[in-house]
Amino acid sequence: MSRRSALINVMANAADKAGRRLIRDFGEVELLQVSMKGPGDFVSSADYRAEKTLKAELKKARPDFGFLMEESGAEEGADSSHKWIVDPLDGTTNFLHGIPNWSISIALEKEGEIVAGIVYQPVGDQMFWAEKGEGAFCNNQRLRVSARHELKQSLFATGIPWQENGDHPVFLKQMAAVMQESSGIRRMGSAALDMAYVAAGKVEGYWESGINAWDIAAGIILVKEAGGYVSEVGGGENIIYGRSILAANDRIHGKLKRLLRNAVREPKTT
Ligand code: IPD
Ligand code: CA
Ligand code: CA
Repeated sequence: MSRRSALINVMANAADKAGRRLIRDFGEVELLQVSMKGPGDFVSSADYRAEKTLKAELKKARPDFGFLMEESGAEEGADSSHKWIVDPLDGTTNFLHGIPNWSISIALEKEGEIVAGIVYQPVGDQMFWAEKGEGAFCNNQRLRVSARHELKQSLFATGIPWQENGDHPVFLKQMAAVMQESSGIRRMGSAALDMAYVAAGKVEGYWESGINAWDIAAGIILVKEAGGYVSEVGGGENIIYGRSILAANDRIHGKLKRLLRNAVREPKTT
């Protein structure tokens, strides 16, 4: 049985409040698609408004904690050991296009480690949450990473670099290798939900380079508490701030890491 702690309730209530407004805004976006101006500015203000709501709610409950928020940046708190890491709207492009795969991500970092996290998908009312040592859950249901251990049977999520973001040639090599060896790749558009899906055992693994802390911080604790493993793509341990992430069930993690590494290895010249 899941019993949410006071801390998780603070995070979930903040997400719930911001989520209710975002749902209304999402309805408006559908109407704006057909206007000449498009929904771009409207979505930016929805994003800022959600961040303001989250900050106010979290501050009310824990006045001394610091912040790292996607839109407003970093703010030191009186308690320098605790920091909220927040993405008020993860999957903005989906939101902008009327696609319901978007989420709110809130993590609590304590002395360099993520100790609690929630990823909330307002459409469908899916609250993914985890706290260190307490397990990972979706609403009231316990989460466990999948047991598949063969690449050929595994489904992977990733993020595809776009425009000037990321290293396109490297990504194309990685994708070619994973396409060949796996049962498929999904680009769903919300890194936070991709991590939640690893925790829920819906996909065996997820990798992305050029990622930011607010995209994956909550997902880190979800995956770990569901029995999975998280590293940087190259295997490094700077998982919160290292700008790349590889999350997978414990048996697939090493195999995916090697596959990605071999995909970009320069051929030996003799
Ligand atoms: C983006 C999403 C996307 C990922 C990008 C992120 P945003 O976040 O998580 O899935 O591929 O790297 O920037 O901009 O929608 O908050
Ligand atoms: Ca994001
Ligand atoms: Ca965002």
